[in-house]
Amino acid sequence: MHRTSAHPTEFTGRAALVTGSASGIGLAVARRLAAGGADVAVADINEKGARSVAHELREAYGTRAVAVGLDVTDPASVETAVRTTVDELGALDLAVNNAGIGGPVAPLHHYPLDEWRRVIDTNLDGVFHSLRYELPAMLAAGGGAIVNMGSSCSTNGFPGVAAYAAAKHGVIGLTKTAALEYAARGVRINAIVPGFIETPLLADASDAERAHLVGLHPAGRLGTADEVAEMAAFLLSERSSFVNGSYHLVDGAYSAQ
Ligand code: NAI
Repeated sequence: MHRTSAHPTEFTGRAALVTGSASGIGLAVARRLAAGGADVAVADINEKGARSVAHELREAYGTRAVAVGLDVTDPASVETAVRTTVDELGALDLAVNNAGIGGPVAPLHHYPLDEWRRVIDTNLDGVFHSLRYELPAMLAAGGGAIVNMGSSCSTNGFPGVAAYAAAKHGVIGLTKTAALEYAARGVRINAIVPGFIETPLLADASDAERAHLVGLHPAGRLGTADEVAEMAAFLLSERSSFVNGSYHLVDGAYSAQ
């Protein structure tokens, strides 16, 4: 069961766009922001899932929530999603660029070229496209805050996932550069680096693989989507007003080793 907000009005009057929010971490973020009073654009390539989440948010939290079909690999789709958010919710104040895929696990010299392109397109180009269209909308709203979803593979390598690690390292470079470019104009941009989190992204993992992943975390378990959402809420709130251009670990001490 997901948590309700400890700050029920923290985001009241704020319009948020969360990419990849039909499932997993994005879903938890959308719930957390709505619980804090935000109006939320639930944007996902899975339009049916997005509609169902938007309905849930309206019912559970009484905020405005709209479903937006979105493919982050397609700049035109991202442009339309941002425009729809502004049209429907009145502005864009907050964004979480979270949509992402895992891709196959294969040694680098066997990594399929088409899968390399698909993972980079989604996990790296997708964040660039999102920033590219979100930033002008936020500047028009007088400022805002953005969180990009990284991964432990943003700071560490991981055997078998060359494309995922390359894309997620790239997300940190995008985050830092965007923060430098827009810090003086009232937009803060940070990244979250989660350890392995219990979501449908890990659905294909075997029991042995799951046990291996758990063993990588000194906390002795995988993280929950709610634990990542709590960091996103902090980074999007005024409580983090001097936090900018940095990445934030939510990883049960994974990277402390
Ligand atoms: P998930 O598979 O539960 O959710 C991902 C969502 O993104 C889905 O709703 C999917 O439909 C959507 N999506 C996929 N491609 C899209 C596209 N082209 N355009 C728009 N939406 C698209 O996965 P999860 O675990 O919630 O992952 C969310 C983010 O967190 C990803 O960026 C992932 O890399 C990152 N992450 C996940 C970790 C984990 O262990 N689950 C660990 C670290 C980072």
